[in-house]
Amino acid sequence: MAIKNQEAWGSRIGLVLAMAGNAVGLGNFLRFPAQAIQNGGGAFIIPYLVCFVLMGIPLLYVEWAMGRYGGKSGQHSAPFMFDALDKRFFWKYLGVLGIFTNLAIAAYYCYLESWTMSWAYHSVAGHFMGKTQAEVSAFFSSYIGLTTVEPVVFWILCVLLNTWVLSRGLKGGVELAAKIGMPLLLIFGVILAVRGVTLTAGEHGAVYNGVLGLSYLWEPDFSSIWDPVVWRNAAGQIFFTLSLGMGCVHCYASYVKSGDDIALNAMSAGWMNEFVEVVLGSAIIIPIAVGYLGVDKVIEMTKGGSGFGIGFVTLPFLFAQWGALLSALAGFMWFGLLFFAGITSSLAMGTPCMAFMEDNFNWDRRKAAWTVGAAVLLLGIPCVLSQEAFNEFDYWVGTVSLVVFALAEVILFAWIFGMEKGWKEITDGADITVPIVFKHIIKYVTPVFLLVVFFGSAPEMWAVLTKKITPYVAVARILLAGLFVGIARLVYIAHRKPGAL
Ligand code: TRP
Repeated sequence: MAIKNQEAWGSRIGLVLAMAGNAVGLGNFLRFPAQAIQNGGGAFIIPYLVCFVLMGIPLLYVEWAMGRYGGKSGQHSAPFMFDALDKRFFWKYLGVLGIFTNLAIAAYYCYLESWTMSWAYHSVAGHFMGKTQAEVSAFFSSYIGLTTVEPVVFWILCVLLNTWVLSRGLKGGVELAAKIGMPLLLIFGVILAVRGVTLTAGEHGAVYNGVLGLSYLWEPDFSSIWDPVVWRNAAGQIFFTLSLGMGCVHCYASYVKSGDDIALNAMSAGWMNEFVEVVLGSAIIIPIAVGYLGVDKVIEMTKGGSGFGIGFVTLPFLFAQWGALLSALAGFMWFGLLFFAGITSSLAMGTPCMAFMEDNFNWDRRKAAWTVGAAVLLLGIPCVLSQEAFNEFDYWVGTVSLVVFALAEVILFAWIFGMEKGWKEITDGADITVPIVFKHIIKYVTPVFLLVVFFGSAPEMWAVLTKKITPYVAVARILLAGLFVGIARLVYIAHRKPGAL
């Protein structure tokens, strides 16, 4: 390891914003509200908060602590961070998941992110004006059906933009993007949320008050609380929204100086994400859509649990009822907000792989960034071409891989490295007192919780594996397997011959 990876964060606020930007993503504004509605409204918040406390917060501490610890020995990606905690050979191969998941998620996430660029453009250009909802819906279908080259152009632009920011490095690229993107996101989010909850019946053709949506969202339906599926969905949302179990929190945290606080930083970024998700995420798409369409229709529209239909079809259609100027402004803010949420997350997905190449093969960050960009484009091709491939990627990496990784890291940290040492890592330099109860939660509760989630999903995994597959699904699986093996091979080379390549 000749050249040291010299990257560092410029400031504490920059670090917290970047980490919050990592967590705050499309999931906060589209996935959360749809999940909440589908899983019992106000009753969902109970499993959700329990998962946040028993799994989210503990894993945040573990991931930040592992990250800073790895950084001390010059390691900024999961494989050799795991290795730093225990030398048995298999840990570093489990750590491969911490690079793999990010790249595979980036493959489809960047495509979604590119939609927000296109929709922002069409909103400002007034292209949704005068269209019926069916017409906006047809526009969406033809867009994802690739009837023109436009989606491909925006997608490539989006990946190029991400790559360019990444190539500028941590401080001049990622941190700067978060410092610009996060405040704008918060401003746009607050304005739209105020609009959502103050929407009154009769105004611009609205039929109901926006608050009706909010109160439906938070009205508890306790019948759902004992449903294991609801718990699984709550756990899944906590993972996804906090970007846990993926190796990207570790990577960002590894650039914290040894001895600097991580406990307060982890909580600041984590709670900022929860504010954006629970407060802003609930107050935009649901109230606005309910204001016009009523509760039943909105329940119907969130069926898939993703909120894409409301976000990309219903909202632009409804905005268009507000007159040319307001609709352009609302569309710009809504898709701009989604874009900033998206890009600060996709940048985080690129960094672990870059760090791995920089640390172990002495690559400079430009070469690393452009290689990651190329990989994301290549892996993204099947996701752009086929919804099935897209779902396949999302299932294996967005649902399965992260639970396996989280289970591995918590066992490694609390049981192999040892909770005494682990606790010292978490609390070292801490600017807050971490409640001692978390020491026990991390050691006992979180692993059991994760095991239950994992085994709870086993039947479903089996069903997915044994289902008849189509060519696109096969391509997706081959690519995913190839990606994993490829990274594992690099880990092997780096371990045997540091600096080769
Ligand atoms: N947390 C992000 C969101 O809420 C999404 C995300 C998933 C993510 N995996 C990630 C972000 C990996 C960064 C890295 O949308």
